[in-house]
Amino acid sequence: MGVEVDPAFVQSPEHRPDPTVVEASGIPQIDLSPFLRSPIPEAGDAFPPAQSDLLEEVEAACRDWGFLQVINHGVPLELVERVEAAARGFFAMPVEEKRAVRRDEVNPLGYYEAEHTKNVRDWKEVFDFVVEEPAVIPSPAERASVGGGVLIELWNQWPNYPPEFREACEEYAKAVTGLAFKLLELIALTLNLPAKRLNNYFKDQTSFIRLNYYPPCPFPDLALGVGRHKDSGALTILYQDDVGGLDVRRQSDGKWVRVKPIPNSLIINIGDIVQVWSNDKYKSAEHRVSVNTKKERFSTPLFFNPAHYVMVKPLEELVDDEKSPAKYEEYNWGEFFKTRKLSDFKKLEVENIQVSHFRKPE
Ligand code: OGA
Ligand code: NI
Repeated sequence: MGVEVDPAFVQSPEHRPDPTVVEASGIPQIDLSPFLRSPIPEAGDAFPPAQSDLLEEVEAACRDWGFLQVINHGVPLELVERVEAAARGFFAMPVEEKRAVRRDEVNPLGYYEAEHTKNVRDWKEVFDFVVEEPAVIPSPAERASVGGGVLIELWNQWPNYPPEFREACEEYAKAVTGLAFKLLELIALTLNLPAKRLNNYFKDQTSFIRLNYYPPCPFPDLALGVGRHKDSGALTILYQDDVGGLDVRRQSDGKWVRVKPIPNSLIINIGDIVQVWSNDKYKSAEHRVSVNTKKERFSTPLFFNPAHYVMVKPLEELVDDEKSPAKYEEYNWGEFFKTRKLSDFKKLEVENIQVSHFRKPE
């Protein structure tokens, strides 16, 4: 007896996963210990050799891949394990219980099982929470207003079960946000900027963490766990379990390759904002999640996002009207985020917003 697939999950033929996708060999693996052991030197002081080598590796990874895997990253394994156990406990509950913390038009945080990427439904369930409360964003209910619209405060909603869920999530959030600031400083240095040049944009950050649960899927040739997309924030720090399924589109040849799970590592990818800040020196890499017919899979991205009021544009220090003019018009992060959220929430008949819409004509 065959099971019919709900057409909402079916990718158009050109975007279906190719079952022969190969495991990538070249994704840079970077050991962050030189920057965790000793502080970043004061401006003007030289970097110890281990640190300058590391900066070169980070620069090459951001430029050539937009993706890297870090080890010795300072996020304790014990915290990662506690969040994963909490997520497993939560997603294993009956759906009625999960729906007690379901997101809705008023609160976009919590549980959700009907996410769409580019108007095709993803084969997954999620739980979202912000790392700093309240996070302030333009109200997604205010469809028409652009700028000057109504702001809302986002507060987390937590399930009663598992009892340790909230604490595990909050402690993980603190540790992984610390790593995000460290990476932000490394990225600033690779752009020849002072280490803390970008930190202020994150003062009222809108970062959130997503617990992803990908149930086994009987239609791996038709559906995706997450359809192809680029992350719209500054950078993403992703923990994935040992099942595998994250595919990245390799910049050198446009081929989809599988990111191999490495124990105790975290995956970093450049988001659209760093692409714009760097005026295209670094590119936000396209990625997706293939599903598994037998195994369930867990992952937890931190989407490291600036304050809603930040106007995103190529950094002044990196542009020059003559030699390297800005490639993007400036845009407001809060409005971009709101528009993206709206199009994820509803199956819209329009293409969802992309940074390429702000690219200036050549
Ligand atoms: C995402 C994403 C990858 C994964 O949620 O934006 O790309 O491996 N997730 O779950
Ligand atoms: Ni993503």
